[in-house]
Amino acid sequence: MPVVEPIGIVAERTTADGEELDAILITRQLEFALPYRLILGRRMLPAPEATIRSALAELLVRLHLAGFFWGDCSLSNALFRRDAGALSAYLVDAETGELHDRLSDGQRLHDIDIAEENLSGELYDLSAELERDVVDDPWEFAEDVRKRYEQLWAELTEEQVFAPGEGQKLEERLRRLNELGFDVEEVELVREGDQVRLKLHSKVVEPGHHRRRLLRLTGLDAQENQARVLLNDLTRYKTYLERTGDAPVSDAAAAGRWLSEIFEPTIASIPRELRGKRAAAEIFHEILEHRWFLSEQAGKDVGLEQAKKSYIEQVLRTAPDEKLPLV
Ligand SMILES: Nc1ncnc2c1ncn2[C@@H]1O[C@H](COP(=O)(O)OP(=O)(O)OP(=O)(O)O)[C@@H](O)[C@H]1O
Ligand SMILES: [Mg+2]
Repeated sequence: MPVVEPIGIVAERTTADGEELDAILITRQLEFALPYRLILGRRMLPAPEATIRSALAELLVRLHLAGFFWGDCSLSNALFRRDAGALSAYLVDAETGELHDRLSDGQRLHDIDIAEENLSGELYDLSAELERDVVDDPWEFAEDVRKRYEQLWAELTEEQVFAPGEGQKLEERLRRLNELGFDVEEVELVREGDQVRLKLHSKVVEPGHHRRRLLRLTGLDAQENQARVLLNDLTRYKTYLERTGDAPVSDAAAAGRWLSEIFEPTIASIPRELRGKRAAAEIFHEILEHRWFLSEQAGKDVGLEQAKKSYIEQVLRTAPDEKLPLV
């Protein structure tokens, strides 16, 4: 789950005159996390504004799939992390949350109503405080989070009806879910006359498709979009090995070589004082983007080594340190 990790509780707090105080929950500081003020307060956003909307929508979907009602979704109760050019969101404040076996449509929509209200309110407040617009229209922003939520929820859980001979539709649906970053543990197919109804239960739709695959193959723990980028690079490398080597290369063997010959040396050669600026997977993604950019300009592939050197000087050296942005 994309939530901060609890590490302790300070309970039974009393003042000197015996008055009881609320307990305090202590959570581990989430590294490379950007609070919304650091994102929207900048004139140059660290990622397109639409990715903040998608990140919040996806966080709500993931919580709801697990049966978790948040009850206070807001910008300040979430944290954002760079995720391969986009952002992903984490829940920080679950004080109002309730864990159910599954959520009814009414509970889900109630949670989204609360989110819409909170988000637009916070955006108006932030605009007033900074004396400038932080988004075009706070209400449109909040409504768009709802739309993105509804669309993703439907893609993941909507029933589908097809004719018995159309088995490929099941394949297509499952592939689409994988592309969106979700795995389905189990599907239910119900025969109704000359039709088949495909049911996907929210409890068996699991996020983290690419993340799990990357972890299994390489031991690297990244976020979903980063994992997608790293896996693509790994596939490219495997194709290269197959073309130039003599034996067919298994996924596991190719992954081992990619890790020790490409990923690790690239990250290890980043000057130590610059490594705190971004998570390793994000640095790797940015180098690949930079390589694409330089290659476009040069009209030929400039290669990983040159792209890395240029990226360190042109991009990373001047970027703000984001490991612990609030400390
Ligand atoms: N584990 C964490 N890692 C990094 N930052 C965190 C973490 N937990 C909380 N924060 C930061 O602290 C802020 C406040 O956290 P939280 O919402 O849990 O406190 P709160 O007492 O409920 O405050 P508020 O009343 O403003 O909601 C968050 O918006 C976030 O920026
Ligand atoms: Mg809070």
